[in-house]
Amino acid sequence: MTVFDLAVTDALLSTTRAVRKRLDLERPVPRAVINECLELSLQAPTGSNKQGWSWIVVTDAKKRAALADLYRKGAGSYLQDAEKESAAQNGDSQDTRVFSSAVYLAERLQDVPVHVIPCINVEHMVENPPRAAWAGVMGSIFPAIWSFQLALRARGLGSALTTLHLRCEDEANALLGVPDGVMQVALLPVAYTIGTDFKVAKRPPASAVTHWEQW
Ligand SMILES: Cc1cc2nc3c(=O)[nH]c(=O)nc-3n(C[C@H](O)[C@H](O)[C@H](O)COP(=O)(O)O)c2cc1C
Repeated sequence: MTVFDLAVTDALLSTTRAVRKRLDLERPVPRAVINECLELSLQAPTGSNKQGWSWIVVTDAKKRAALADLYRKGAGSYLQDAEKESAAQNGDSQDTRVFSSAVYLAERLQDVPVHVIPCINVEHMVENPPRAAWAGVMGSIFPAIWSFQLALRARGLGSALTTLHLRCEDEANALLGVPDGVMQVALLPVAYTIGTDFKVAKRPPASAVTHWEQW
C-alpha cells in the first residue's frame, strides 16, 4: 500500500530542477500563488521548532534591478570563467550547461517577475559559532526553501536556488531593510516555466554515496 500516488510524488521530487533559461519573463505571477507556496513551505521542520524564518518577496522593478546588480557584483567573473573552463575541459557536459544557464540568469535576473529571499533569525548565535550551530541554523531554513520550490513546480512555476548576491550582504540588507539578527540565505527568482517537461538529472547512484552501518 502506498500513501500517495508514487508516480506523481516521485516525478515531483526527481524533476524539480534549477530553472533559469526556461523562466517565463513575460507572464505575471499572481501574489496568491506565492502566498500559497509560502504557506506550504511553513510546514517544513525547524530546529527546536523555532520557525525563525522570514520571507522577503520583491516584485518592484527598481528593487529587482538593484538586486540583480548586487548578484552580478557578487558573481564577478566567476560564472563566465567557470563556463569557459568547463567547456574547454568537458565540452557540452552537465556542468557546462549549468554554467551557461547560470550566466543567462545573471544577465536577466532583473527581468524575472518575482524575487523571493528566505531569511533566518540568527540573533541567538554566538560569535564564531561551532559547526553544529550552522547545521541547526541552515537546517532550519533549507527544508522550507525546498518545499517552496516543490510547491512552485507543482503549480507550473519554477525557481533556482541562488546565493551569489549574499557576497554583497550588507548592501542587500540596506536595500531591503533587513534588521540586525536576521540573515538572508538565498535569492529565488520565481516565474512560470516555459513548458513543464523537466527531466530527471544524471546523478551517481545512491549506493556510491551511502555507507551502511559505518563509513
Ligand atoms: C547552496 C546552493 C547555492 C546555489 N547558488 C546558485 C547561484 O548562486 N546561482 C545559480 O545560478 N545557481 C545556484 N545554485 C543552483 C545549482 O547550480 C543547481 O542546483 C545545480 O546545478 C543542480 O541543478 P539542478 O538543481 O537542476 O539539479 C545553488 C544551489 C545550492 C544548493
